[in-house]
Amino acid sequence: MPKVFITRPIPEEGINLLKEKGYEVVMNSEDRLLGREAFLKELREGKFDAVLTQLTEKIDDEIFEAAGVQCKIFANYAVGYDNIDVASAEKRGLIITNTPGVLTNSVAEHTFALMLAIAHRVAEGDRFTRAGKYVGWAPMLLLGNDLSSKTIGIVGLGRIGSRVAYHAVKGFDAKIIYHDPNRNADFEKEYGATYKEKLEDLLSEADFVSIHVPLMESTRHLINAERLKSMKPSAYLINTSRGPIVDEKALVLALKNKVIKGAALDVFEEEPKLAPGLAELENAVLTPHLASATEETRAAMSRLAAENIIAALEGQTPPNLVKKS
Ligand code: GLV
Ligand code: GLV
Repeated sequence: MPKVFITRPIPEEGINLLKEKGYEVVMNSEDRLLGREAFLKELREGKFDAVLTQLTEKIDDEIFEAAGVQCKIFANYAVGYDNIDVASAEKRGLIITNTPGVLTNSVAEHTFALMLAIAHRVAEGDRFTRAGKYVGWAPMLLLGNDLSSKTIGIVGLGRIGSRVAYHAVKGFDAKIIYHDPNRNADFEKEYGATYKEKLEDLLSEADFVSIHVPLMESTRHLINAERLKSMKPSAYLINTSRGPIVDEKALVLALKNKVIKGAALDVFEEEPKLAPGLAELENAVLTPHLASATEETRAAMSRLAAENIIAALEGQTPPNLVKKS
């Protein structure tokens, strides 16, 4: 009977699929990060056929070695897989999968939650009200900015970036500019979008810059001090992708010095830590990596991760096989 290890409790949908297959499921029942040593020990002793991992775990060659030869697949419970050494997995003939598609809508929605929260000063207004500072309507109280008819700069036109464009155009009559290694003529036609081959050209024009690229060596600190300076002083930066894509210390300085108007972040460079000074800034909205955290999406991610495991253990190509790009 195949044995599956799940590193941390996830919604039951996927677990039930695995159990219906007759697999033995062993789950770290504590809802906190399994320490590295405990994880290695579990893998060495457990003799698992499959492991379901979280984005907070570094999955490298030492982990693969500990899992041993009977292990076929590491199924990441995330669309991003920068936590996994895919090249090393491939050398060992190990399968790596992720959970794309099912979280696109949630992440795109969260992007708008953040855009609206920063531009309409929702979080700041909430803090203000709870602090008892609201003493009556005032014509100049906490003025923000509209999203409607603004220029949205999408950095990375994958599934999520495209869905953000959809909402921006359909819901807010926004103008779309985008930067991506690949130009997409159909997308341009559908959304009246303009391609910016140079990131700087997007940054200097956008009222909202929204990041949707994966974390790779080439995207680490893609948004650095210099690039922040090329943004408009009235612009907002939104990041729902991965923290290290933005130089967070440079961002804190830029927000302090009003180089840009505001930032809304769901991800941080050294999660769960925040760069010094970030938490004190009123012109920043911060959420704790929640973009895919809806009941609907987490249930779907759980199912998809399980389906990937089942396919791999049945000798089929899993639906979401990840390859070293
Ligand atoms: C979340 O950040 C994910 O990659 O799924
Ligand atoms: C991730 O799902 C993306 O393609 O944006």
